Amino acid sequence: MNTTPILIYPSILAADMANLERDCRRALDGGADGLHVDIMDGHFVPNLSMGPAVVAALRQALGSDVELHVHLMITDPGRYAPAFIKAGANTVLIHIEADGDIPATLQAIRDQGIRAGITVNPETPAASIQDLVTANAVDEVLCMTVHPGFGGQSFIESVLPKMKEIRSWAPQLPISVDGGIDQESAPRSAGAGANVLLAGTSLFAAPDMTAAISTMRAACNAAYSSNL
Ligand code: DX5
Ligand code: ZN
Repeated sequence: MNTTPILIYPSILAADMANLERDCRRALDGGADGLHVDIMDGHFVPNLSMGPAVVAALRQALGSDVELHVHLMITDPGRYAPAFIKAGANTVLIHIEADGDIPATLQAIRDQGIRAGITVNPETPAASIQDLVTANAVDEVLCMTVHPGFGGQSFIESVLPKMKEIRSWAPQLPISVDGGIDQESAPRSAGAGANVLLAGTSLFAAPDMTAAISTMRAACNAAYSSNL
C-alpha cells in the first residue's frame, strides 16, 4: 500500500515581502504543511530572491516545528547549501543542471541530518536522475513545471509524463511539483504521481487561503489515490 501523503507547501515568493511573517502564519494557520522558500542567485536563473538570513529569520519567528523546504536555484549549491542548513532548512533541494559534484553535494546535505532533494527543469529528462533515485541517494524529486526564476507563470503540461516515469521507479519517494500549480494543475500532477504541491500565486492570491488549501488537498488526494 502506498502511504505517501499529499503535502501542500505554499511558495513564499508570492507572499507580501513587507509582511512576510504575517503571510507565513496565514499559510500555516490555513492548513499548509510547510513553506517553500525559493533561493535565486541571478546566475542560474535571471532573478534574485532571498538568502540564508531570511531562512534564519523565518526559523526564529516561526519556531522549530515548521517545515522549511528550501529550493536552491543557484549555480554552485555545494558552496552555499551549508549556510541554508545552518539557517534552519529541513529540506534542501538542488538542481541536476547546477555545477559541481551533485551526488557529493546531496550526500553532504544528508550528512548534516536533513533531507536532500534533486530538482529537474522542464526540458531535462527523467533519465538524468534515474541513478540517484534508484540508488536511494535522494529524499525527494522536484519536477519543475515552469522555467525557474519567476512566480506567476503557466504550468507546462508536457512535464506530466516525467512525473509518471519517476513515480514508476520509486513508489514511496516524495515527488514535488513547482510552477503554475493551481486548482486545475495540482490534481493533474497528483494523478501523474506527484504528492507534494508547491504553489505560490494561486494560494497567496486566493480570497480564502484556508479554503484554497483544503480544496487543493481534497482534489489531489482523490486524483493521487485513483492512480495507485
Ligand atoms: C519558480 C519557483 C516557484 C515559484 C512558483 O522559479 O521555483 O517556487 O514560486 O510560483 P507560482 O506558484 O506562482 O508559479
Ligand atoms: Zn521553487
